[in-house]
Amino acid sequence: MAIQWFPGHMHLTQKAITERVKDIDVVIELLDARLPGSSANPMLARLTANRPALKVLNKQDLADPERTERWLAHYNALPATRAIPLDASLSTPAQQIVRACHALSPNRGGLAKPMRVLICGIPNVGKSTLINTLTGGRKAKTGDEAGITKLEQRITLADDFYLWDTPGMLWPRIVVPKSGYNLAASGAVGRNAFDEEEVALELLGYLKQHYAAGLVARFKLVEHEHAPGELAEMRDEALLDTIGRKRGALLGKGRVNLQKAAEIVMHEFRAGNLGRITLETPEEFAQWLAEGQRADAEREAKKAARKQQRKGGRAAAAEDDAVA
Ligand code: G4P
Repeated sequence: MAIQWFPGHMHLTQKAITERVKDIDVVIELLDARLPGSSANPMLARLTANRPALKVLNKQDLADPERTERWLAHYNALPATRAIPLDASLSTPAQQIVRACHALSPNRGGLAKPMRVLICGIPNVGKSTLINTLTGGRKAKTGDEAGITKLEQRITLADDFYLWDTPGMLWPRIVVPKSGYNLAASGAVGRNAFDEEEVALELLGYLKQHYAAGLVARFKLVEHEHAPGELAEMRDEALLDTIGRKRGALLGKGRVNLQKAAEIVMHEFRAGNLGRITLETPEEFAQWLAEGQRADAEREAKKAARKQQRKGGRAAAAEDDAVA
């Protein structure tokens, strides 16, 4: 599935980050704890010149706690990187953030050397909610310099701790097809940019393997018919059809409205009604990424070869013309 979706301000955001990062000590990347790998932006490390990184696994209330631990361990093992879990129920997230940033950049602090932090994240990851909590609902100060800095917000978390929010969004170029599905399922992609049925089928395919009990409980799938073990054997299409039937999403003549059934599945997943779910482990994501990068490299090589061929063809034609 190709997601053709760009939330705008991409160029401006890149420019803003490149400008701001010169005076930044730590870069916070807000990730969706249900899909940490897919919600990350690989471009960020390059844009931020590998500044110390704090990965905030947000919406951890919706994610599988055991998998969140694995992702935290994965990030904490990387150089100059720390990770913390977070969710919107926390009334004072500033303390965790301040502590983690000081651990990453211990030489900063005090009025002479205040900590300067930049926060980034893809759409819907919960950035506005977090910033709202951090500022206590007050409007954050925006820059009074010309150009892009005007759009930046500076938030003071302590006398010696400044947080900059960048304007616009950084949307990752999706090289892993599974990431496209996971991002769409999570609600990060505008709904006109993907096929809901396709995304719901992919989601069900994963859930029936890893979170079958939640599906059985929420959709009242009859235990002896679709016990967790047996569900894994069921075709995704048949599962979507069963769910549609159970929820009364019907067209005429007893046919299931698959579009409606897909919307129900995604709504239930997003609301956390199927249980706490994480759609990828660090190991799975690493494997998808390696496969995605291999396919991407092959595509690029084919494209280059075609271009070369066309160029060769044109050169030969020009030679023929010259001889004639
Ligand atoms: P953004 O600025 O990064 O685009 O995201 P935003 O804060 O607007 O949050 C996107 C959605 O995620 C919102 O839901 C918000 O309430 C929800 N959200 C943010 N943080 C958390 C969290 O830690 N846990 C959970 N469970 N949800 C979170 P919405 O349905 O789009 O809006 P609303 O109905 O809450 O207003």
